[in-house]
Amino acid sequence: MTILRNGALMTPEGPMNADLRMDKGKIAEIAPHIRPGGGEDVVDASGCWVCPGFIDGHTHLDLDTGATRTADDFASGTRAAVCGGTTTICDFATQDRGDTMAHALEVWHALADGVSSCNYAFHMAVTDWNERTKAELPALRAAGVTSFKAYFAYDNLRLDDGAILELLESIRPFGGILGVHCENGDVVERLRRRAVAQGRTGPENHPLTRPAEAEAEAVDRLCWLGRMADAPVHIVHLSSALGLEEVRRARRRGQTVYAETCPQYLLLDDSRYRLPGFEGAKYVMSPPLRGREDVCALREAVVNGEIDTISTDHCDFNFAGQKELGRGDFTKIPNGAPGIEHRPALMFTSFSGALSPSRLCALLSAGQARLFGMYPRKGALAVGSDADVVVWDPRARWTITAAGQVQNVDYTPYEGMEMEGRARLVYVNGVLAARNGQPTGAVAGEYIKR
Ligand code: URP
Ligand code: ZN
Ligand code: ZN
Repeated sequence: MTILRNGALMTPEGPMNADLRMDKGKIAEIAPHIRPGGGEDVVDASGCWVCPGFIDGHTHLDLDTGATRTADDFASGTRAAVCGGTTTICDFATQDRGDTMAHALEVWHALADGVSSCNYAFHMAVTDWNERTKAELPALRAAGVTSFKAYFAYDNLRLDDGAILELLESIRPFGGILGVHCENGDVVERLRRRAVAQGRTGPENHPLTRPAEAEAEAVDRLCWLGRMADAPVHIVHLSSALGLEEVRRARRRGQTVYAETCPQYLLLDDSRYRLPGFEGAKYVMSPPLRGREDVCALREAVVNGEIDTISTDHCDFNFAGQKELGRGDFTKIPNGAPGIEHRPALMFTSFSGALSPSRLCALLSAGQARLFGMYPRKGALAVGSDADVVVWDPRARWTITAAGQVQNVDYTPYEGMEMEGRARLVYVNGVLAARNGQPTGAVAGEYIKR
């Protein structure tokens, strides 16, 4: 049993000065002053914010791309997550073409069960839509999977428009939600092939072959498919002002469109691809980093309340040996970048003047919990909710470095950035999982059946 004393609890209505008691993995009591009954660990949280554990709704751990595997597996990735204050992740179990979703779920459980420092849920990435896949939906739902992903891009993953329409129609009756990777795959593949054929092989060609127009077109298409299916849609990793315009247009038509963006699209821009040598490979991710005006537009959208969630798309590969696979051909650079450890600090620092801590908690936790069917078990400081709690010290000052990170990767896109605020104590199901950015070694993560 633990009592957090004198902290400012971050509720949707704003900060509330109160004590909070955790017992048997749950939040057991919230009151102005909790009297210890004896045997509790009493923690002074004066000057700190007490936040619902942060939720990263978009991670790829232990992902096999065919050519290589992500640098972080579930053990190392979730260890890094808790160090930053993330207590739940939603990773993507991915169906292999010709195989079942049930098998994909089994595989992802084998990767995550028993080794995860934070809680985990699975979205199911559907890559082979057919009658058998459709017939699997009730069993999948019974196994706790209610959110799905489809890709408009990547030849080995993408579904055609008709399949996406049927998927939307099929999950709508049980309130399932479909997140879609929105880039026009045909256009992107054509531009990539053309670049390589012309001898344009460096990483600076990555953003040129995945233009914002290809994102906007796919966002627009998804929104119309959502309207035809009479279903909500979720745009994952929105990266551009043009894409955002399409979200706005669909919302103006009265559609329910959820939008996720990520720290990289709010903090970094495409000048990174023009760094000397092969350095740009560190930022090869899809969609790519965009121009300064896109960054500004997305930041404004966050402040205006047009973005529902900020998650990471953590999908990391070492620069040495992995990103280097694409020296001489940028299309062979494994796509993705790290972020799971640093998202909360990056966002609290970067939006400190513009957004209240309560609103940031909504973007980092409650938004994901609501969208993915975990609220109020997750994403809320309420009696009966799971004791996933972060004691956040807004006075802490520190600098992000690859040398000091827990993520199992040899670089960070945020090297040298100075942070304001840090997760001082991180509880997962009431168990202390991290202290001042370092793991305690506790492996308290559980599968979240939704
Ligand atoms: O480059 C990225 N984002 N890799 C991960 C897969 C995806 O598209 O989300
Ligand atoms: Zn994606
Ligand atoms: Zn992703």
